[in-house]
Amino acid sequence: MADHFRHIYRHQADRYDRLVAREDYQGNLFAALNDIRPLDGLNVVEFGAGTGRLTRLLSVMVDRVYAFDIEQSMLSRARESLSTTGMRNWSLARGDNHRMPVKSGAADLVIEGWSFGHVTEWFSDNWRHHIDAMLAEMQRIARRGGVAILIETMGTGARQPMPPAEALAQLYEYWQIQHGFNYRWIRTDFHFASSTEAAELMPFFFGEALARRALQGGKVIVPECTGIWWKRFG
Ligand SMILES: C[S@@+](CC[C@H](N)C(=O)[O-])C[C@H]1O[C@@H](n2cnc3c(N)ncnc32)[C@H](O)[C@@H]1O
Repeated sequence: MADHFRHIYRHQADRYDRLVAREDYQGNLFAALNDIRPLDGLNVVEFGAGTGRLTRLLSVMVDRVYAFDIEQSMLSRARESLSTTGMRNWSLARGDNHRMPVKSGAADLVIEGWSFGHVTEWFSDNWRHHIDAMLAEMQRIARRGGVAILIETMGTGARQPMPPAEALAQLYEYWQIQHGFNYRWIRTDFHFASSTEAAELMPFFFGEALARRALQGGKVIVPECTGIWWKRFG
C-alpha cells in the first residue's frame, strides 16, 4: 500500500488531480478553514501540497501561499493548473515535510492536507517520531500566535466520521491528546460527472473493493468525511 500511493504521486499526478477536483463539490472546506482562521491577508506555508488543490483554494483569499511537496511530478501538475487561475500570490518548490526550506517565524498559518497521514504506512514502526518532527517544523515556521491546520480523511464512502484504519485512529488521537489539537469534521463529498468518470477515478486511488461499494448502483456522489485539526502556537 505504501508503494501504491508513492507510485501515484510519482507517475499519475494528472489522474490524482482529476480525482481531487471532484471532491468537496459543496465547498465546505473553504468555509471551515476560514472559520477556524480567517484567511484574509495571511502568509501561508503549505506542507505536502500535491497538485495544489488547497493552494488554489487558499490563494483567492490569503496574501501569499508558499507551497511545497516532495514529488516533482505533483509540483509540475500544480504549477500547470495554478498558472491558469490568474492568481500570482503563490509559489511552489520542492520541500520535505520533515525539513522545509523556509525561514523561522515566517508564517501566520501552516497547513497540510492529506499528507502527514502517510507516515502511519510509510514509517509504520516509528511514525510518532516522524510526526513529532513535522509538527516541530510547523512550529518553527509559524510566527508566535500562528496557527497550524491538519486535514486528513475520516472515511471515504462514509456519512459519519470514522478513521479508516487503526493506525490513523491512533494518529488522530495522538494529535489531540499529546499535541493539544482541536478537532472538527466536515463532509467533502465527491461528485463525478458520470458513472464512467467515477469508475475511472475511484479505483486507481481507493482500490477496487472500496470503489465498488461506494459506486454501487451507478452512483456519482460518494460521501467523504474529513477531519480538521488545529492549534495556535503560543
Ligand atoms: C494525498 S496527497 C495530498 C496532496 C494535496 N495536499 C491535496 O490536498 O490534494 C499527499 C501528498 O503528500 C506528499 N508527501 C508525502 N510525503 C511527503 C514529505 N515527506 N514531504 C513533502 N511532501 C510529502 C506527496 O508527494 C503527495 O503529493
